[in-house]
Amino acid sequence: MMSPPRKAAPPVFSPREFRASLGMFATGVTIVTARTAEGEQVGLTANSFNSVSLDPPLVLWSLARAAGSLPAFSAGSHYAINILAADQKALAERFAARGADRWTGVAFTEGAGRAPLLAGAAATFECFNRSRYEEGDHVIFVGEVERCSHRADASPLLFHGGKFYTEHPLQADSSAPQAPDPRFVGGYLGYLLGQASHAVYRNFERSVAAQGLTHIAWRVLALLHDAHAAATAAGAGAAPAADGTIPGVDGAVPVGQLARDVLAKQPTVTKLVQRMADEGLLVLRADPQDQRRTLVAASEGGLKAARILITEARAQEQGQLAHWSASEVDALKRMLQRLAAGA
Ligand SMILES: Cc1cc2nc3c(=O)[nH]c(=O)nc-3n(C[C@H](O)[C@H](O)[C@H](O)COP(=O)(O)O)c2cc1C
Repeated sequence: MMSPPRKAAPPVFSPREFRASLGMFATGVTIVTARTAEGEQVGLTANSFNSVSLDPPLVLWSLARAAGSLPAFSAGSHYAINILAADQKALAERFAARGADRWTGVAFTEGAGRAPLLAGAAATFECFNRSRYEEGDHVIFVGEVERCSHRADASPLLFHGGKFYTEHPLQADSSAPQAPDPRFVGGYLGYLLGQASHAVYRNFERSVAAQGLTHIAWRVLALLHDAHAAATAAGAGAAPAADGTIPGVDGAVPVGQLARDVLAKQPTVTKLVQRMADEGLLVLRADPQDQRRTLVAASEGGLKAARILITEARAQEQGQLAHWSASEVDALKRMLQRLAAGA
């Protein structure tokens, strides 16, 4: 049997590849602070922070052996880890720059071992300097947390691929789990669908009105637009003649079916389609199979108005669902289709 290797094989990648790969790990940013034996503040920007243990509460971070602050951190009894807020990017840069005067104008209070706790930090950990492990060109510091606090409303500063990020796309993520709503209406499907429908249509109502349409007239036009598109796709569509009549099958729909599809009473829809025909949006004709039945189709003008609104509806929907993943949108629509079909 072969014994396992006792040493790692030499790296087969460049330092540049190593850095770039590490940069794919997005982190927060801290400034670790302490006091020298003479009482002077020291501090540096570090993103090597991580949690280690809950009980006892332990955290770690690592410091380059070449760092000027190594003697102070190694010898001191305490240090503070300040998790920076999104508006502290300038401070992060200042505490990473060599030779800069890091402390002028910096507001802080004193924590355990007199380590500076930076004003405005998103969180602070006051650590006892528990243990150190020399590894490669860094020293790993494990700190035992004596006190910690955070600002619940703060957004943390982020670091990834050598850049700072102050924007927080995840905060706008409404798909993040939310506390369940204890109210009856907060969980009642009928109420939720009504509220959601209102939220979706609120802005679109304005677009509909701008086309001189009522909401129900828009629904009629949207349905007839789809019927026309389906008939055209089936190769049976034909352009209306100069007098507006539609030869052959053109996606014309009986008034009764239209009424069912727009969820309105047939007499209401009969009156509405007559008015829309007078306005040049629809074309009406008797059903050749049954002269008592009226077939309704969108005119060229009606199709044009429908296309304008469909483009706007799609754009508004895209904006509303901008923070949803494609699979969430797909799942939502499938579920609504099931509900609409009575399943
Ligand atoms: C985002 C960021 C993260 C850093 N993280 C670390 C770190 O974890 N450990 C470290 O030794 N240096 C880190 N540095 C570099 C130090 O901040 C920098 O070398 C600093 O000048 C060291 O200060 P000192 O020599 O006074 O100790 C980081 C720099 C930046 C910009």
